[in-house]
Amino acid sequence: MNKPIIALDFPSFREVEAFLNKFEGESLFVKVGMELYYQEGPDIVRYLKDHGHQVFLDLKLHDIPNTVESAMRGLAKLGIDLTNVHAAGGKAMMEAALNGLREGTPEGKTVPKLIAVTQLTSTTETAMHQEQLIPVKLIESVTHYAKLAQEAGLDGVVCSPLEADAVREATSEEFLRVTPGIRPSDAAVNDQKRITTPSMAKQIGSTHIVVGRPITRAENPIQAYLDILMEWNGETR
Ligand code: C5P
Repeated sequence: MNKPIIALDFPSFREVEAFLNKFEGESLFVKVGMELYYQEGPDIVRYLKDHGHQVFLDLKLHDIPNTVESAMRGLAKLGIDLTNVHAAGGKAMMEAALNGLREGTPEGKTVPKLIAVTQLTSTTETAMHQEQLIPVKLIESVTHYAKLAQEAGLDGVVCSPLEADAVREATSEEFLRVTPGIRPSDAAVNDQKRITTPSMAKQIGSTHIVVGRPITRAENPIQAYLDILMEWNGETR
């Protein structure tokens, strides 16, 4: 089954451990973002890998190519499965990131997948016009960055589930479309604005979904996870 990626948006190791203990031995696909990584560092990734989980390290790197390459070389040594950069850093930066990952991956291990953030889903078309001085439609900027990422050799992008079909059309079926902003139909929307359900995301063209609070803050996280897992994989219960 294609597992939903659980966003471990917790402030420290202690909360992560308490949350994961509920899943007793189940191998999960989890996302470590800035909040957790900047507190716990590489040890949190080692802990997750030692416990058999797949890890998406969501640090959205964006710097000069040489710095990003060196950073990725180090991150690859942690055995992560998926990580990302900002496409706005440019093609040379994305190529350097990929190179760093390839060089840092230990002998015999798989090179982590690399995806690009196109436009953050928090960026509105107006803000993009006025602040970035990009005069096109937001979706054009998203598909342009997706194509640039593909040209640089990356494996996919992070995007809104509502953009997944346009990204697929601009790139290819295999190009990953990792989408947050997922809510089961009965869940609280929280601060996400453009949301879809797991089955809608699948229909539109997401290849992976990222789900945080509907699982991490659920009264019964395991049930919430299983419900989303089933819906995402098109199974009825
Ligand atoms: O709790 P929720 O399901 O909204 O969590 C979504 C996760 O995806 C969070 O970790 C958030 O930072 C991340 N994310 C997002 N929108 C993006 C990129 C990442 O919500 N465009």
